[in-house]
Amino acid sequence: MILHNLSLSSGNRHKTAITVGSKCIEESLTSLTTQSKRVFVLSQESLLKDSGYDIMSVVKSAYHSDCHLILVADGESAKSMTTYTQCLNHIFDIGVERGDTIIGFGGGVVTDLAGFIASTCLRGIKLINIPTTLLAQVDAAIGGKTGINHPSGKNLIGSFYQPHLIINDIAILASLPKEESQSGFAEIIKYGIIQDRDLFDLLLAEANTIIKFDYIADHDLWLNIITKSIKNKIYVVEEDEKESSLRAILNFGHTIGHGIEALFGYNMYKHGFCVAFGMCAATYIAVKKSLISQDMATAIYRILNVYDYHRISLDSIHKDRLLAIIARDKKVKDSKIRFVLPTHIGKVIVSPDVSESDIIASIEFIESFFTGVTP
Ligand SMILES: NC(=O)c1ccc[n+]([C@@H]2O[C@H](COP(=O)([O-])OP(=O)(O)OC[C@H]3O[C@@H](n4cnc5c(N)ncnc54)[C@H](O)[C@@H]3O)[C@@H](O)[C@H]2O)c1
Ligand SMILES: [Zn+2]
Repeated sequence: MILHNLSLSSGNRHKTAITVGSKCIEESLTSLTTQSKRVFVLSQESLLKDSGYDIMSVVKSAYHSDCHLILVADGESAKSMTTYTQCLNHIFDIGVERGDTIIGFGGGVVTDLAGFIASTCLRGIKLINIPTTLLAQVDAAIGGKTGINHPSGKNLIGSFYQPHLIINDIAILASLPKEESQSGFAEIIKYGIIQDRDLFDLLLAEANTIIKFDYIADHDLWLNIITKSIKNKIYVVEEDEKESSLRAILNFGHTIGHGIEALFGYNMYKHGFCVAFGMCAATYIAVKKSLISQDMATAIYRILNVYDYHRISLDSIHKDRLLAIIARDKKVKDSKIRFVLPTHIGKVIVSPDVSESDIIASIEFIESFFTGVTP
């Protein structure tokens, strides 16, 4: 059932319909889409097996069209030029017209790839995202950033392309492994710190329940948390779709986070875990610069502890290599590193003057914070 109907307005008067609910995929497809001659569903075999969700039957009953399933490999490797080309070969072999639709059914890997294919195939065919991870529901599938990786770096090839519809089905999260939930949850904590104090307080108040990540038993709470998170993202993207100003605040925790992700070759720590490392490091830098009170910083460290992020064992970090990666990050402007730093719970600033020694000190701090569990 669809429980919330939201929308995101972007440039060229485009409006993305966003539904949030439970077991609401078929209803959303039926009521919010127009027919297409062909529908291409992009997904992963392991996800179809693990979720037990028969997406093709649902799509076939919503559309009276030619429906095709395109499977890609599990993991970040699917966001490659090779997979992108293989998917397009498959689509062109079948035949495709401007009125056709591509549906991304999966986590952020699938929605990023499906979005890039939809935006470039025939200069743009209709895109529907059905995010199946917590991270993709609250972040990756909304906002129009699509992309694939290049050997030189992550997400270096991509486009801004807004979907026609995004369907967030809370029930589909039931099969998500706990560590995927915990990874996605870091982005929710991020919304609390950057602009939503009420959400932050809710996450602390309901921590004992939330940490179970039981989307079925605690459905109403999750509906509330996911909807609030999506509204946070909609607000930022509607203000600044192409990241010329406000959207940069979504990078809180991501400068150092992306650096660590790259340092360990993208397969050691999940994206959200790296965001947790980065949020912790940025908070430490904000304290060092007297931008945030010790009390507020303690609340940020506490929420990371409450949600067990300190149980992740962060390997010792080669600081020079990390600095080099951060310096070549695409978010460097005029060779100055722009850092998002918290000033209150619910407020951040973009600081142009974070030095290398600030970063090194923050890394030493997080190495002692994320100590892991001793067996
Ligand atoms: N476009 C954006 O704005 C944006 C924002 C944040 C992250 N991202 C991208 O998102 C990607 C990470 O996304 P992710 O964390 O969702 O990872 P993912 O897509 O790799 O999914 C994680 C794992 O969970 C499995 N899975 C997905 N749904 C499941 C379900 N319901 N039940 C059981 N298993 C399920 C997947 O098969 C996969 O193995 C990265 O590539 C990142 O760059 C993009
Ligand atoms: Zn992120």
